[in-house]
Amino acid sequence: DTPHLVDRFGRVATDLRVSLTDRCNLRCTYCMPAEGLDWLAQPSVLTDEELIRLIGIAVRQLGITDVRFTGGEPLLRRGLEQIIAATAALEPRPRISMTTNGIGLSRRAEALVAAGLDRVNVSLDTLDADRFRRIARRDRIEDVFEGMAAAKQAGLDPVKVNSVLLRGVNEDEAVPLLRFCLDHGYQLRFIEQMPLDAQHGWSREAMVTAEEILRGLSERFQLTPADSERGSAPAERWLVDGGPATVGVIASVTRPFCAGCDRTRLTADGQLRNCLFSQRETDLRTPLRSGADDETIAELWRATMWAKAAGHGINDPNFAQPRRPMSAIGG
Ligand code: GTP
Ligand code: 5AD
Ligand code: SF4
Repeated sequence: DTPHLVDRFGRVATDLRVSLTDRCNLRCTYCMPAEGLDWLAQPSVLTDEELIRLIGIAVRQLGITDVRFTGGEPLLRRGLEQIIAATAALEPRPRISMTTNGIGLSRRAEALVAAGLDRVNVSLDTLDADRFRRIARRDRIEDVFEGMAAAKQAGLDPVKVNSVLLRGVNEDEAVPLLRFCLDHGYQLRFIEQMPLDAQHGWSREAMVTAEEILRGLSERFQLTPADSERGSAPAERWLVDGGPATVGVIASVTRPFCAGCDRTRLTADGQLRNCLFSQRETDLRTPLRSGADDETIAELWRATMWAKAAGHGINDPNFAQPRRPMSAIGG
């Protein structure tokens, strides 16, 4: 009876990603349709107390050392600061990070740090306001710039930036985005588009690959490998012009990193996923609400992770997208 979340392939999950809401204030074309989605009904969303109970079990009984809050957009979750503070009060204290689109971050960065937030990743796909409006279907690029600046100002370090390049839309922005991030001291990572959008519009041809991105960057920058050991990091990183600044590529599709995966995921409605792409979820909300004790929940969690597949299977001929879209899993 091991205390940790291990699977049949010897991987140990120490990183918990918690989706706090499936709602978002942007409508990125590669994520959801213009009209949005059928959001989770409020009664099915875990309360702050329920969330903290589950995170507590993960930290105290299951060896989770890192907790990341995601969405949808986590800044839309009322009580986010209190959820972070309660997570920071757990023993042993986990490292706490958040992945956000940055809107509203400028007003809240200081309070989030005060609550215990250690790191933040902000999404930004373009530097151009018109393109931002095309990709995200909202006119909010200035809010994102301000949010990133406020995060840095508040002492969050590093501030990572996530960019998805889309063919024919912003694929020419790899170099400008990197220059921008070098100038501002942000750590940029490019993400290969994954088949996780609600509209099922992903295609291999439209995906801008890690190889293409690196080829483009190499015409302007000297890139040398930054990490002798990658560990479980999704991003492969390169030193830019000798460093210390780096650029990363998260090549989920063309260079899968599943063999080193250390993640377990909880959705806003209390369903446990052992993989971003898993077809099955484990319902923790029902046992939680019918009085299950900590050990019962911990055992469900262990069993769920034990059943984790070797990989995501995107490159298998019979690959099927999970029913739940990216925005409801939290990436
Ligand atoms: P850090 O590098 O620790 O800051 O986190 P991260 O890069 O894992 O987190 P982030 O939420 O910024 O995710 C960046 C991209 O990586 C998103 O597109 C995620 O969907 C993707 N990603 C995160 N975790 C996984 C994973 O376990 N598998 C795959 N295939 N992609 C992942
Ligand atoms: N493929 C890859 N990345 C995606 N993101 C959202 N949808 C997808 C997708 N289908 C990115 C967001 C954000 C991060 C959490 O995931 O742009 O930066
Ligand atoms: Fe882990 Fe699944 Fe992501 Fe692969 S796709 S790295 S197994 S969560």
